Amino acid sequence: MKPAKPMEKMTHPTRSLLKFITCGSVDDGKSTLIGHMLYDAKLIYADQEQTLLLDSRLGSREGRMDYSLLLDGLTAEREQGITIDVAYRYFTTQERSFIVADTPGHEQYTRNMAVGASFADLAVILVDVTQGILTQTKRHLRISALMGIRHFVVAVNKMDLIAYDHHRFEAIKNDFLSLASAYEVKTLQIIPVSATEGDNVTTRSLNTGWYQGLPLLPYLEQVEVTREALDAGFILPVQRVSRPNHAFRGFQGQIASGRVSVGDTLISLPGRESARVKSLLVTDRTVELATTGQPVTVQLDRDVDISRGCLLVQNPDLNVADLFTATLLWMDDTELIPGRSYLLKLGTRVLPATVMTIKHQIDMTSGRQIPAGKLFKNEMALCDISLSENMVFDEFKHNRTLGSFILMDRLTNMTSACGTIDHPLRRSTNVIWQKTDVTREVRAAQKNQKPLTLWFTGLSGSGKSTLANEVEKRLLAMGRHTMLLDGDNVRHGLNKNLGFTEVDRVENIRRIAEVARLMNDAGLIAITSFISPYERDRGNAREIIGDSYMEIHVSTPLEECEKRDVKGLYQKARNGQIPNFTGISSPYEEPLSPDISIDTTHISIEEATDLLMQQISRYLSPL
Ligand code: ADX
Repeated sequence: MKPAKPMEKMTHPTRSLLKFITCGSVDDGKSTLIGHMLYDAKLIYADQEQTLLLDSRLGSREGRMDYSLLLDGLTAEREQGITIDVAYRYFTTQERSFIVADTPGHEQYTRNMAVGASFADLAVILVDVTQGILTQTKRHLRISALMGIRHFVVAVNKMDLIAYDHHRFEAIKNDFLSLASAYEVKTLQIIPVSATEGDNVTTRSLNTGWYQGLPLLPYLEQVEVTREALDAGFILPVQRVSRPNHAFRGFQGQIASGRVSVGDTLISLPGRESARVKSLLVTDRTVELATTGQPVTVQLDRDVDISRGCLLVQNPDLNVADLFTATLLWMDDTELIPGRSYLLKLGTRVLPATVMTIKHQIDMTSGRQIPAGKLFKNEMALCDISLSENMVFDEFKHNRTLGSFILMDRLTNMTSACGTIDHPLRRSTNVIWQKTDVTREVRAAQKNQKPLTLWFTGLSGSGKSTLANEVEKRLLAMGRHTMLLDGDNVRHGLNKNLGFTEVDRVENIRRIAEVARLMNDAGLIAITSFISPYERDRGNAREIIGDSYMEIHVSTPLEECEKRDVKGLYQKARNGQIPNFTGISSPYEEPLSPDISIDTTHISIEEATDLLMQQISRYLSPL
């Protein structure tokens, strides 16, 4: 941490842009402060000044100007695509241009703050001098730091209310300094201000003779924010290897980032071989240079082992892995449960991703590590995340763009979390998929069938297990090779350690999906019978199993299942003897688009099996 340099020594070769965020709690005076700054710096138009005067007569400041109204009057660009409410305001002084992300201090603040902070280089944190450092202040600092902000200004506001008492200011200053010592802070300036009176907003206040530093605006005009190299450099995901004749071998794809010129040295990933660019084609034109977004064919000066899915990059330090540890800030009303699948978006790439484990939750105010099985809205945690395939990324401390991502819910497409990558997991590069000679296709061919997973879902007592059993017998009689996985049975072995909480059910279904996939790899028709009550988890199973997944919803309604109550479990659940019982005290989410649906209320087992077999046979390969 270094103190701000005095203004005289600063030089400004260019009017650079400063992107900053303001963070404050509801009554800290955030809008008033920014409003006053713009007003004093004559950054508003005359007619707005008039309106302000008129408006403020009705406002709370007894005929004096209410600067906070100014902000609402300025046109703000709102970005609301993903329920984010961040207003970006632009202004320019003689010295510098500014963009400030103004995030409302209300309930949704974590999400908004995180989004605002991800774009900013500096955070202005407001502290109400009459309140001191609050839990909110600590959260603001932590979220800003998580999102990569290394430059801070603390505006200690409402100094007029404590008669500009130097000692009280010093006490808050010291509190903040000890708080900030736990973070990587490159510059920090703590300024006593009064947003309503204008002390130290744009000009030095006579009321705070003891403060030697710059007022807020002059400080912001001169502070140097070093930005790490944001450019990830050239990245080309190879989509096709083109070989029109034996003399030419070109790697084709769309440039994901950066630019490339003839003569540049590129590195292949994951092979890490290097070669120089011999020629470049954009569509079918020869070019010297190609840039982001262009479809390009790259010819290299030597033979490099590259196939579809490999990458050509400039930066040799990039990671290519499918497993990493990251800090997550959870922003969704629905809690995070390990094992669930989300969509991860990093730069332009979107991939299915699963939070495998929550290593520990991070207490927002103290930074303490707390064990956690789930993560709720506005909580932060260190997690291991696995991707469906390899992805190029960097550690956040090296690269903000390639080191940060968002997770999206697969059903609602809402942004569920934002995260920053700590480090790749070595496991992901050390455990390499072993290619075997006897493949799934070979095994399936030997059995003369197409592997399938018949995934039965439905309430307890709906008839899943009975039907699954009947279907297996029929398939066996037809000479098919099958394997039945039944909920109650698997819970006696492989999943003995799992109960019926949501967390355990997610893991139950994940494991079964992986096992069914192995069965399919063995060439078998897997039949699974699990309540599998959550749409997200069935979606995950579909993801794991792939095209072989067939969803069969046994849709017998709850009343009928409860009437049957074969195992007497509904009775017990109604008596409160079984917690989390599906249909009673735990939800069953109806499948949105099952491949087959069957209600067993009014038909015999035989009839139901006939109906099912008719439908299933459409998916079976001919013998
Ligand atoms: S799932 O929800 O994780 O898919 P699964 O199909 O494995 O559940 O197990 C369901 C079976 O466990 C039911 O058929 C029932 O016999 C038994 N069971 C015991 N407790 C519960 C419960 N709380 N909720 C649902 N089923 C339960």
